[in-house]
Amino acid sequence: MIETMRWKEGCLELVDQTRLPSKLVYKSCRKVDEIAEAIESLRVRGAPAIGIAGAFGVVLGAHEIHETRQEAFLSALEKSFERLAATRPTAVNLFWALDRMRRVAGESRKESVEAIRSRLLEEALRIQQEDKEICRKMGLNGAELLEDGMTVLTHCHAGGLATADFGTALGVIYAAQQQGKRIRVFADETRPLLQGARLTAWELMQNGVETILISDNMAAWVMSRGKIDCVIVGADRVARNGDVANKIGTYGVAIAAKAHGIPFYVAAPVSTIDRSLPHGEEIPIEERSPEEITSLAGTRIAPESVRVYNPAFDVTPHAYVTAIISEKGVARAPYAEAFDRWAAGESPA
Ligand code: MRU
Repeated sequence: MIETMRWKEGCLELVDQTRLPSKLVYKSCRKVDEIAEAIESLRVRGAPAIGIAGAFGVVLGAHEIHETRQEAFLSALEKSFERLAATRPTAVNLFWALDRMRRVAGESRKESVEAIRSRLLEEALRIQQEDKEICRKMGLNGAELLEDGMTVLTHCHAGGLATADFGTALGVIYAAQQQGKRIRVFADETRPLLQGARLTAWELMQNGVETILISDNMAAWVMSRGKIDCVIVGADRVARNGDVANKIGTYGVAIAAKAHGIPFYVAAPVSTIDRSLPHGEEIPIEERSPEEITSLAGTRIAPESVRVYNPAFDVTPHAYVTAIISEKGVARAPYAEAFDRWAAGESPA
C-alpha cells in the first residue's frame, strides 16, 4: 500500500493525486497555506485523507507562529483553523479532525507553546494511525458481503489514496481479495475530474485487482446486462437518517442499482457520519469552478460563454442504500439507531 502522506521533520509530504496516473510524486508542504491549497486543488482528496491533511495543516500552522505566550499563540492558531475549514465544505472528516486538533490545543493551553506544538503533532499522527486501523477493520466487515467471483461497481475513488492507506470502498475489495476471493471491479471514470479513471483504475491495477473502466453513462447498461453483483462506494458525509453525500453521479448509480435489484453498499468510517444533521438535505454541497466542466486535460471542450453548473457531490437518499459498512460493523435501516450505538462505542447487534 502506498502511504498517502508522511510526516518528515516539519514537512508533510503528500502524494500529488493530480499527477496520477502518469507520475507518482510526493509534494512537500511546509506551511498551512500549502496544505490548504493542496486540499482545494485536490492534490490530496477523499474524505478521510482531507481530514488527516487538515490535522497536519494545523501542526504546520502552529510552527509558523512565533508567539511564546500561550493565549496569543492559541488565538493566532485560529487563523490556521479558519483557513483549513474554508477549503472544502462537504467532507465532514475535515471538520471532525479540526475539532480534535482544537480540543487538544485547548486542553494543553497551560503548557508551554513548544509542548502545545508537540501535542498537536502527536494528535495528527494519531489520527493518521487510527485511520489505517479503521480502514482495515472496515475492510474485514465489508468483505463478509462479498463472495468469491463477484463483480463490484464503484464510483469515484475511495481507495488507499483517499485515506491514510487502505481505503474504504476499495478496502472492502482488498480485504476480500486477501481472504482469497477473486473480485472483479467495474470503475466509473467519474466526470468531471476523472478520479475513477485516473486513481481507482490505477490503484486497483497496482494491487492486482481485475479492473474494467467504463464511462459514467455506461453504468446502468452494464447493470442491465447482469454484469454487476453489487455496488460499493465511499462517502463524504452521512446524515443521521443514512442519506449519503458522495461524489456527483453516485445518486444516479444508486437509482440504477435499485432498478436492477443490485445491492448498493456505502463504506465509511464513523467519523464520516454527521449525527447532527437529521437528513441529507442539510449537507453542504461544494460547487467547483466551471473550467472543470468546460475543459478536459487543458483543452476547451465547450463554447466560451456557456453557463455551467458544477456541484462536486450529490446526496443519495437512504432508501437507495442497502447497508452502510464502518469499522464498527454493517448497519441496515433504520440507520440512526446503529449510528447511535456506533457513536457510543458499541458494535452493532
Ligand atoms: O472530490 P473528491 O475526489 O475529494 O471526492 C471524493 C469522494 O467522493 C469519495 O468517494 C469520498 O471522499 C470517500 S473517500 C474514502
